[in-house]
Amino acid sequence: MQTPAQDAAHMARAVELAAHGHGTTSPNPVVGCVVLDAAGQVAGEGFHAYAGGPHAEVVALAQAGERARGGTAYVTLEPCDHTGRTGPCSRALLAAGVARVVIAVPDPNPKAAGGAARLREHGVAVTVGVLAEAAERVNEEWLTYARLGRSHVTWKFAATLDGRSAAEDGTSKWITSPEARADVHRLRAAADAIIAGIGTVLADDPHLTARPPTATPVPGPVAAAAPAPAHSDAATGPQGGASAGSGAAVGTSGGDSAAWPGDASHGRAGSAPAADPNGAASGAVVSLSGVGSAARPGDALGGASRVPVGVSALAGPGDAAGGGADAAHLEHGGAGGGSSAVGPAGSAGSGRGAGRGEGAGRRGPVRVVVDAEGRTPPFARVLDDQAPTLIAVAEDADPRLDADLLRLPRRDGGLDLEVLLRELAARDVVSVFLEGGPTLAGAFVRHGLVDRVVAYLAPALLGSGRAALGAAGVGTIADLHRLRFDEVSPIGPDVRLVARPVNQSGREK
Ligand SMILES: NC(=O)c1ccc[n+]([C@@H]2O[C@H](COP(=O)([O-])OP(=O)(O)OC[C@H]3O[C@@H](n4cnc5c(N)ncnc54)[C@H](OP(=O)(O)O)[C@@H]3O)[C@@H](O)[C@H]2O)c1
Repeated sequence: MQTPAQDAAHMARAVELAAHGHGTTSPNPVVGCVVLDAAGQVAGEGFHAYAGGPHAEVVALAQAGERARGGTAYVTLEPCDHTGRTGPCSRALLAAGVARVVIAVPDPNPKAAGGAARLREHGVAVTVGVLAEAAERVNEEWLTYARLGRSHVTWKFAATLDGRSAAEDGTSKWITSPEARADVHRLRAAADAIIAGIGTVLADDPHLTARPPTATPVPGPVAAAAPAPAHSDAATGPQGGASAGSGAAVGTSGGDSAAWPGDASHGRAGSAPAADPNGAASGAVVSLSGVGSAARPGDALGGASRVPVGVSALAGPGDAAGGGADAAHLEHGGAGGGSSAVGPAGSAGSGRGAGRGEGAGRRGPVRVVVDAEGRTPPFARVLDDQAPTLIAVAEDADPRLDADLLRLPRRDGGLDLEVLLRELAARDVVSVFLEGGPTLAGAFVRHGLVDRVVAYLAPALLGSGRAALGAAGVGTIADLHRLRFDEVSPIGPDVRLVARPVNQSGREK
């Protein structure tokens, strides 16, 4: 039996492993797993790499082979107990003869939960809650999606030091540096959907595609800086996998990819990548949440964000969407709107699967324009063929647009944004990257629908022009939306700040 400190260290490693799935597992969670043999040596490691692929436990157990018998498995999310595209992990753990299972976070999904109970029924010792905070953080997007039945929202903005996101004449290109903009592209690429308001589309004609650069340094993720879990007592690396004892932090940066900075390898194999000696952070990242301790690996944007297991078979967020589902529907509309409605599953390229494909075949994030009246110009760049696009319009609008339309009820003078997020969740959009502008962002904040803020601040002043955030329902100081800074990182000449609401939305509630 391991000590609590050993439990925490092995779970920290599992959280690190889970972070490797960021950007590729949706609509599944990111999950990491470490398997020890009966002597307490690391025998296997794994993470869930893509929806439909093997779950973390299965990967780690395969590495461990016979060594798993009588051993201990550390899993960041409760092992599933249902058969989706893959078999139940609880059964795989039982079949492998594991004697103890340590779980960080219970599965909130009633269809997939029950793994812990099943294991206990069969005499396996189960411990729940080890390093739960870190495991929640690494999986925050999927947990929001699974618990609330709506997509998780990251609002990103770029502003001057005095908080302006556009000049008086509406120009806003560019406030921040190429390095900061490259970082935005990486974050976009890891999201399932990118949302912008019609005001931004009309003003800037953005593509809203993810075009991650290939060689731009990114700030080191806190995850990469996290000390290796104390595997030093477990010098034996898993067969064929990374050396668990090496303390190899999840590598960082890489210019590759569709990942949150610091996410490291995005290979499809769910085994741990080898340590990257060059993977050290290229810029100092100051975590404000104690990530320096092994207690919070995977924290901060670098290693934070999404994750989970076998969502394909989860109680669909569509179920949870409840009222949203009948209030809105997806259609591929020519002129005239509603006649060509299709179900929420959507037509190719617009509904389920529009946000993400599976495994390596994933398309870019779906672009969503919030445009009640359907004013998106027919030749707007967001309507090109580089990524799927949904135009969210009012139920009673009559847009003359050859585009995939998502009909939504009106609310407070705009579209109902909560229904929008539920409808997107029903289409497997776990994570949303909200790009503004200020009016739309203000509405998301007003309704408590922003789960994470990523701000790029340039050392520049405007003095007038648009504020980064429009009206957010605050009339008096007592009503301000309080956030907590979780990370500060320099990016080129700019600074990236990551903050989360303290007492509203998602997990902070
Ligand atoms: N620096 C940055 O990070 C950044 C990012 C993005 C944009 N910008 C700048 O922001 C400016 C555009 O911002 P903006 O505020 O004018 O436009 P916006 O926020 O992009 O779009 C606002 C429009 O969205 C529609 N909408 C539909 N439902 C809504 C709801 N529930 N709440 C709010 N809006 C809803 C409304 O038009 P309908 O009623 O017609 O639907 C509304 O006028 C541009 O200058 C752009 O350059 C800067």
